[in-house]
Amino acid sequence: MSERIFNFNAGPAAIPQSVLEEVRDDLLNYKGEGLSVMEMSHRSKSFDAIIKSAEALMKEVMEIPDGYKVVFFQGGATLQFAAVPMNLLTDGKFADYVNSGSWSKKAISEAKKLGKTVNVIASSEDDNFTHIPKGYKVTPGAEYLHITSNNTIFGTQYQEFPATGNVPLIADMSSDINCRKIDVSKFGLIYAGAQKNLGPSGTTIVIIREDLMKRSPENIPSMCSYNIIGGKDSLYNTPPTFGIYIIKLILEWIKGQGGLGKLEEINRKKAKMLYDSIDNSDFYRGTAKEDSRSIMNVTFRLPSEELEQKFVAEALQKGMLGLKGHRSVGGIRASIYNAVPMKAIETLVGFMADFKKQNG
Ligand SMILES: Cc1ncc(COP(=O)(O)O)c(C=O)c1O
Repeated sequence: MSERIFNFNAGPAAIPQSVLEEVRDDLLNYKGEGLSVMEMSHRSKSFDAIIKSAEALMKEVMEIPDGYKVVFFQGGATLQFAAVPMNLLTDGKFADYVNSGSWSKKAISEAKKLGKTVNVIASSEDDNFTHIPKGYKVTPGAEYLHITSNNTIFGTQYQEFPATGNVPLIADMSSDINCRKIDVSKFGLIYAGAQKNLGPSGTTIVIIREDLMKRSPENIPSMCSYNIIGGKDSLYNTPPTFGIYIIKLILEWIKGQGGLGKLEEINRKKAKMLYDSIDNSDFYRGTAKEDSRSIMNVTFRLPSEELEQKFVAEALQKGMLGLKGHRSVGGIRASIYNAVPMKAIETLVGFMADFKKQNG
């Protein structure tokens, strides 16, 4: 293939072409320093400027208020499933969780493995996770409420976040961070693996209210401790330097696009085009309930599994990659993160119309 493919992968996922070009240009000789960012000491002045700028840009782009810290971790969002209860759920107390899909279940199961008390206050499992649970109340005395803001596998997304009063709201935003404007002050902690909207895999971003950072107990592994990693400005040990550098470039790209307000507008337009082409046909069937639909992962079915396989194979021949649904649910999933251009959606929608004509 001589051109870049339209990449609908769920993660690792598309990265803006201009960012990749800048990385390529900097690869051997970063800003005339004679070495790559990969080869730099994490204690060097140059890397210090990169990590500080990544943090500052994250605060600027997300309009993070004072009193929060942006921290870079390793271990993926999966490590945070354990780190959250290790740091913030005292033995003998309990935390509330909403179960809205496979990643919520994993978060719940990691907390339980640690012997913590988990209270699942709402779940959409009985409905095959086709909607985001609503109408529940957080339990008084809970140490926090944990939610998954976007369910990558099931194509559902919170349209509004629950009001939790004094109970800190904690969100796994791995697959929808920076896809829209949010009010960070409603959250005690937000975490996200970078590999969808923020950069390459290997770096995890944690945005934590500073008063919560201080709750980390002494007897947990240092690499999981918000107080230790956050307290050392993400430089307790060697951080994922190259990933942090790319995150910085992506945040600059987001600013260049006009910020989250503008990106949200584009993302909503992209998602609407796809959902319209599903809704206006009796051939494609969306799997998420309308009031819970994700603007990042659009999931749908065709009349048969054979047709779904054919769809994925023919789409690939036409330069569209990654449309196969998650192995646990099947079907089709188009992940349309920030870096997936409008042209990709237009191409997909055109292909869907042709495919229907030929196979409907
Ligand atoms: C919502 C969500 N949470 C958690 C994870 C797990 O992330 P990681 O592979 O970074 O541990 C994923 C991965 O796709 C995800 O989509």
